[in-house]
Amino acid sequence: MGKARFEQNIQHQFPDNFWWGSAASGPQTEGAALIDGRKPSIWDYWYSIEPGCFHNGVGPENTSGFYHRFKQDIQLMKETGHNSFRTSIQWSRLIPDGTGEINVKAVAFYNQVIDELLANDIEPFINLYHFDMPMCMQEKGGWESREVVDAYVNYAQNCFRLFGDRVKYWFTFNEPIVPVEAGYLYNWHYPNIVDFRRGAQVAHNTIVAHARAVGAFKKLNLEGKIGIILNLTPSYPKSENSEDVKAAQISDLFFNRSFLDPVTKGEYPADLVKILKERDLLPTVEAGDLEVIKDNLIDLLGVNYYQPRRVKAKSEPVPEDAAFMPEHLFDPYIMPGRKINPHRGWEICEEVIYDIMIDLRDHYDNIPFFISENGMGVEGEEKFHNQEGFIEDDYRIDFVREHLKWVHKGIQEGANCLGYHIWTFMDNWSWTNSYKNRYGLVEVDLKNDLNRTIKKSGRWYKRLAENNGF
Ligand code: BG6
Repeated sequence: MGKARFEQNIQHQFPDNFWWGSAASGPQTEGAALIDGRKPSIWDYWYSIEPGCFHNGVGPENTSGFYHRFKQDIQLMKETGHNSFRTSIQWSRLIPDGTGEINVKAVAFYNQVIDELLANDIEPFINLYHFDMPMCMQEKGGWESREVVDAYVNYAQNCFRLFGDRVKYWFTFNEPIVPVEAGYLYNWHYPNIVDFRRGAQVAHNTIVAHARAVGAFKKLNLEGKIGIILNLTPSYPKSENSEDVKAAQISDLFFNRSFLDPVTKGEYPADLVKILKERDLLPTVEAGDLEVIKDNLIDLLGVNYYQPRRVKAKSEPVPEDAAFMPEHLFDPYIMPGRKINPHRGWEICEEVIYDIMIDLRDHYDNIPFFISENGMGVEGEEKFHNQEGFIEDDYRIDFVREHLKWVHKGIQEGANCLGYHIWTFMDNWSWTNSYKNRYGLVEVDLKNDLNRTIKKSGRWYKRLAENNGF
């Protein structure tokens, strides 16, 4: 396939050194859950007591087998055009008891992965936490406990010391709002608590843990950048009616600005604080917390974008005795005619990625960022196998291309976007959805020894990266 042939037709050329790659996480890909010293995370524990909560009863023990196959997988990354790749270290593998002894086998494993990536000219982006609280830390209260915050900061310091000579891009958390929503508000994930006040405490403690880890990184004077990965899901009002617009602003305060503002501006949005204070829902803030948040801003932001949130003004009053939920302040809105990914049920709205970019440019000091996740989940994807035996996922190529057109436009208009990572490299295990929705550039055949086959999108992605555009 001659490179020049594609280059001639490039209409969307991206800046030099643009990051092309994908994102994944340790718990979703490594497998080898309970060998070589690793101890259970909340996922292993929850699966052991309630396997029925996981799609088809498939749990986290053998997720995709990256632990044993990483060399082969890194070759597949090359074949799919990666110049960068994000995964996460599992706290429960590196420090199995949460604090104390470091697992030398885990150090050896992560060293090998990092070295193998670098040897193949793939920049490792390392995240420290992807929903995976070690169970022994959850037993101490998880993110509600300051002892666990201390333990996380110690774990982060160890990671920087052990791997910071080679890893130049660090992230403290992936989508830290998800454990708040899923574990403490909506009963989706373990510990299955439904209590806004406790959720707010989890959110605040997570932000303190993040800021302290950023501070620890800066103290070490390593070469490199540190940031956080946030799922930004902008809220759009049903209409320009002021009540709908207010509903969208409030929803943005809860679901986007709650994390985005403290990590980039060093403070919580005053309007959010006001709403919580009026309802007596503010979390406990310890002496020094606000200063730590103020003093430790990120260098780089990862933006995960999948779909927008649409809201409207509340139509019915909330019963007076109902325990508070953010949804007491707005109603969800289903926009007629919206475009849907029929294989996952999520809305597809490409230009929202541009709106996020312009918002970061205009309201967040044009912070350097990259698209750290974007992708299309497909249930029952085996039906798209062609006669040659690989999945013909033109829908995924269209999805990425249409989003990239808006990313390109945002860059042209001055947004500081440094790269694009698709979710994900190979089909992986995804929490309670297990292997239901496939997102990979590479298929993983669960029925046939976890065999890997590059999909059509993976071949296309390589050309995209080689041409630095399309
Ligand atoms: C992202 C998470 O938000 O969504 C991933 O960071 C997750 O960990 C992905 O796997 C896809 O989720 P789902 O539910 O469609 O499989």
